[in-house]
Amino acid sequence: MKLPPITKTYGSRGVLDLPALELEDGVIHAVIGANGSGKSTLARILAGVLVPDGGAVPRTGRVGYMPQRSYPFRMSVLRNLRLTGAGRDRAMAQLEAFGLAGLARQNAKGLSGGEAARLALARLLMEEYSLLILDEPTAAMDVAATLLAEELLLQYQARTGCTVILVTHSLTQARRLAGQVLFLRDGHLAERGEAGELLRHPRCAETRAFLDFYAL
Ligand SMILES: Nc1ncnc2c1ncn2[C@@H]1O[C@H](COP(=O)(O)OP(=O)(O)O)[C@@H](O)[C@H]1O
Ligand SMILES: [Mg+2]
Repeated sequence: MKLPPITKTYGSRGVLDLPALELEDGVIHAVIGANGSGKSTLARILAGVLVPDGGAVPRTGRVGYMPQRSYPFRMSVLRNLRLTGAGRDRAMAQLEAFGLAGLARQNAKGLSGGEAARLALARLLMEEYSLLILDEPTAAMDVAATLLAEELLLQYQARTGCTVILVTHSLTQARRLAGQVLFLRDGHLAERGEAGELLRHPRCAETRAFLDFYAL
């Protein structure tokens, strides 16, 4: 999937300035970088909820998007899933898979942050997309929930063959899941490459400093 160059300016401040990128079909691309480096801005632009300077990025298929903060609807956890049009059995099976079956009848407004994130991912993965964009999906999850979500994401990706943009703070998560890594710094693409290679032998000094900090 070919992306055009993307820039985004707020007032006089440029927050994103990326060259034309090619995403590899069927590959998980981890987008990493410090706070404020433009990761969520990129995710929102690709999801079509934010218009970049030059006009919206053309869509090439169905796009699924999990924002950095996702809020469930004020209704039961099960009904939140059934909003996708799924029948009761299929929705319950999905809750089961995500470890949420025990909460099916609870009002989703009362979920913890990690549970709400699991519900958002469970709901999103009920449907099929050609591009799936996840903005720090596991940031609020504990270790067990994170590993479960990662496993379910890998299964989903293998089943559907979709291309994934995974914004993450976790380099270990990038190493576990991603085929490609895009490293953003101050709205620019500092480095991009195959995940194993980039995380082991970063070429640029900023990436190296970031990796050193996390002792990888
Ligand atoms: N609506 C906005 N108005 C002004 N600045 C914004 C707006 N949204 C984001 N920014 C700025 O753009 C930069 C990139 O933000 P963001 O993409 O959310 O970073 P990240 O997700 O990498 O932490 C930040 O410095 C942020 O303050
Ligand atoms: Mg962000």
